[in-house]
Amino acid sequence: MKLAPRELDAVQLLLDTAAAGRVDLARHVGRAGPVELEIGCGKGEFLVAAAARWPGTLFVGVEIARKYFLKTAARIHRAGLENARVLWMDSALLLDRWIAPVSLRAVHVYFPDPWPKRRHHKRRVVSPRFAAAVARTLRPGGSLYLLTDDAPVFAAACEVLGQAGGLAPQTFDAGAPSRPRTGYEEKWRREGRTIFAARWLRRGHGV
Ligand SMILES: C[S@@+](CC[C@H](N)C(=O)[O-])C[C@H]1O[C@@H](n2cnc3c(N)ncnc32)[C@H](O)[C@@H]1O
Repeated sequence: MKLAPRELDAVQLLLDTAAAGRVDLARHVGRAGPVELEIGCGKGEFLVAAAARWPGTLFVGVEIARKYFLKTAARIHRAGLENARVLWMDSALLLDRWIAPVSLRAVHVYFPDPWPKRRHHKRRVVSPRFAAAVARTLRPGGSLYLLTDDAPVFAAACEVLGQAGGLAPQTFDAGAPSRPRTGYEEKWRREGRTIFAARWLRRGHGV
């Protein structure tokens, strides 16, 4: 398979990351500021808008579908952003194996695939293992943000995250005008769907 230059960049980042073991993503790309991770970033609408709005923060997207990974990579490239990256891989692998503990300021999970059939629930992104990985990789005071239009997904995620040690539920005003929206969010808000929003704070060091 012949890879396009931007695919080669991503593959190189993957190989570097694999070689380095658990990595501090900011240090890895030569930056000193905070890092925020978006799980399942789709076409990258939120990632790119957030990176443009907060240039001091490194925004890293992880996307399992090659097609969407490429769309996000192209969007980052077009916007000329130095503080946005996207990885083509399974977010579970990234969180479990590669992200250094206590290295993220935020994790964003927006409109994860619902997997409505019971036998597919184990494929949902928010699982007990995910919750433990988020608690391990967030800094104290860091946040996990979740948005979904799917009530059963929201209920299941709240249950799992509520059971994870170290995460405390907070209020999250998802409608704040300063917060960039994802592609799905734009679409569902236009259609008037109910959107469920939650935020969990990583406790620790007096937080
Ligand atoms: C419903 S879409 C939402 C996309 C985007 N967050 C939005 O709100 O517009 C869910 C996305 O998560 C990606 N995804 C699903 N499982 C994933 C995983 N394990 N790791 C990374 N991405 C994943 C899918 O490929 C898809 O792009």
